[in-house]
Amino acid sequence: MERLEAAMAKARAARKATKDGEAPDHRPRQAPQPDSGRPIKDVRPEALWTALHEIPIGNALARKMRLSALMGSEFAAPYDILRTRVLRQMRAEGWKRLAVTSPNKACGKTTVSLNLALAMARQADLRVMLLDFDLRRPSLARLLGQQAGSHDLAALLAGTRDFSEHAVRFGPNLAIGLNRRPVPHSAETLLGSSTASTLDDIESRFKPDVIIFDTAPMMGNDDNLAFLGQVDCALLVAAADSTSARQVDSSERDLSGLTNVLGTVMNKCRYLDEHDGYGGEYY
Ligand SMILES: Nc1ncnc2c1ncn2[C@@H]1O[C@H](COP(=O)(O)OP(=O)(O)O)[C@@H](O)[C@H]1O
Ligand SMILES: [Mg+2]
Repeated sequence: MERLEAAMAKARAARKATKDGEAPDHRPRQAPQPDSGRPIKDVRPEALWTALHEIPIGNALARKMRLSALMGSEFAAPYDILRTRVLRQMRAEGWKRLAVTSPNKACGKTTVSLNLALAMARQADLRVMLLDFDLRRPSLARLLGQQAGSHDLAALLAGTRDFSEHAVRFGPNLAIGLNRRPVPHSAETLLGSSTASTLDDIESRFKPDVIIFDTAPMMGNDDNLAFLGQVDCALLVAAADSTSARQVDSSERDLSGLTNVLGTVMNKCRYLDEHDGYGGEYY
């Protein structure tokens, strides 16, 4: 545990040094090479985003997977409110990287992450990224009906596959990094310098305004202890029907020792007061 904490402090210090304008600790990566071996000429962020493989999200899938942010009007309202609050806070602090976590599994991290990303991407002047960083139980690909294709996060994080080939795009301004299979040794992978340099590289070339990481739960594993030094802030998602107040408290406490906590989203609320101001089911 001490080794893990020391490594995490080192990762955080390296990231801070980079943000403060010092040279990053990581080796620079090569520009992406097409199959022919010739360097890609146009590496402007606009061109990199346009070149990403575009995927559709149909209405039936949106309904089945609870993608309320795509369904418009009163269904989208809770996510619009959450989006605006989160963006205001992140902008005020100059933060770009947001982790979404929860005390335990199945609280709705992936559902909330994707809806939040969709709500943010409706803002046309924002470039939004969403990365499946729950290495033990990846599930964004399933939510998006994208089970075909390699979507190998381990290869991306090891630096053997470029984000240009790895990511998919929904609309003009939402890039999504999927993962089809669990990554072994997840905490070690998240803590590794290759993960840090991959993220720095994606950020410097694609210039996203916000990167949302759908991460592991706080309890029962050390993945967030290993990774959260790489983000600026986090949201905690609790499930009204299964997370106890004690679990929320202890996860909030642990989370605040690792990064800046923006707040807790109460998901799966069956009963909302009409004074909540909207008829949806989220927080
Ligand atoms: N607000 C909600 N109401 C009812 N079910 C939900 C809600 N949000 C998510 N779910 C369902 O709960 C399950 C777990 O959600 P998921 O987003 O995969 O959680 P996690 O990523 O935390 O494991 C999924 O079947 C999902 O459809
Ligand atoms: Mg999930």
